[in-house]
Amino acid sequence: MSVPASSERFLARARNLAADEVMLDLEDSVAPAAKETARHLAVGALKAGGWDGRLVAVRVNGATTPWAYRDVIAIVEGAPGAAGSLVLPKVTSPAQVSWLDLLLGQVEQAAGVPVGRTRIQAQIEDAAGLAAVDAIAAASGRLVSLVFGPADFMASIGMRSLTVGGQPEGYAFDAHHYALMRMLVAARASGLQAIDGPYARIRDIGGLREAAASVAALGYDGKWVLHPAQVDVVNEIFTPSADDYARAVRILDAYDRATGVDRRGAVMLDDEMIDEASRKMALMIAAKGEAAGLPRPAASG
Ligand code: GLV
Ligand code: MG
Repeated sequence: MSVPASSERFLARARNLAADEVMLDLEDSVAPAAKETARHLAVGALKAGGWDGRLVAVRVNGATTPWAYRDVIAIVEGAPGAAGSLVLPKVTSPAQVSWLDLLLGQVEQAAGVPVGRTRIQAQIEDAAGLAAVDAIAAASGRLVSLVFGPADFMASIGMRSLTVGGQPEGYAFDAHHYALMRMLVAARASGLQAIDGPYARIRDIGGLREAAASVAALGYDGKWVLHPAQVDVVNEIFTPSADDYARAVRILDAYDRATGVDRRGAVMLDDEMIDEASRKMALMIAAKGEAAGLPRPAASG
């Protein structure tokens, strides 16, 4: 859930939402004239706590802006250890991630925070960032995720649409597929999560559902939301179905029995041949089911 840190009302409201992570935004949802106020309010909100198990991130301004270094210093010194991660927007090169990594190390030491505690999420949102995405994903041990920024990306490549995260008219396929897949592969190659950006038509829940379902199917770990009305749909889409969860658990049970008891590496389960690779796929779905808090399916006989 992305929240403009310049709004006390939105900051307060975010504490009650069923979002896994709240991101206090100092970047594009905050007007240049409100940057300092937003920084101040973000520090206040971090110090006040009350996030109740939610991850808390702060999006600082981009590494080429005059605000970025002060954002980092203000957040880490003002509320030491309170922000689990900083989201660095508009990353165009691994050097920008290295810059943040080094600065964080300095500020963490000065603020008494264990060095390395503050993680980094890198937003990929233009052609340069996507072209360098493999190196960006490998640029720091602090990185936990790559986040797609559809609005900036669509502007950067000249995509003919005015709906953030939507599809341009006149193109028959998924216009975001290449960027999303490119970023997903880079993220996985470096062991990172891949997160999709926002869908800005707040009242178009059908459009949001479609966009979220498409990235969840590809393998994405989550998607940003901009408004409380978007939270439930996105949670629902990223939760595996009870049937898929049950099937994943059956595959794991059957494979355990096949390898452990029967000493066979490939067996039939219903109409499908399963082997070690099936186990890996099932583990991934089962992990998502557990993470979403689904009731564990009964063991199969
Ligand atoms: C988000 O930052 C976007 O550009 O879509
Ligand atoms: Mg952006």
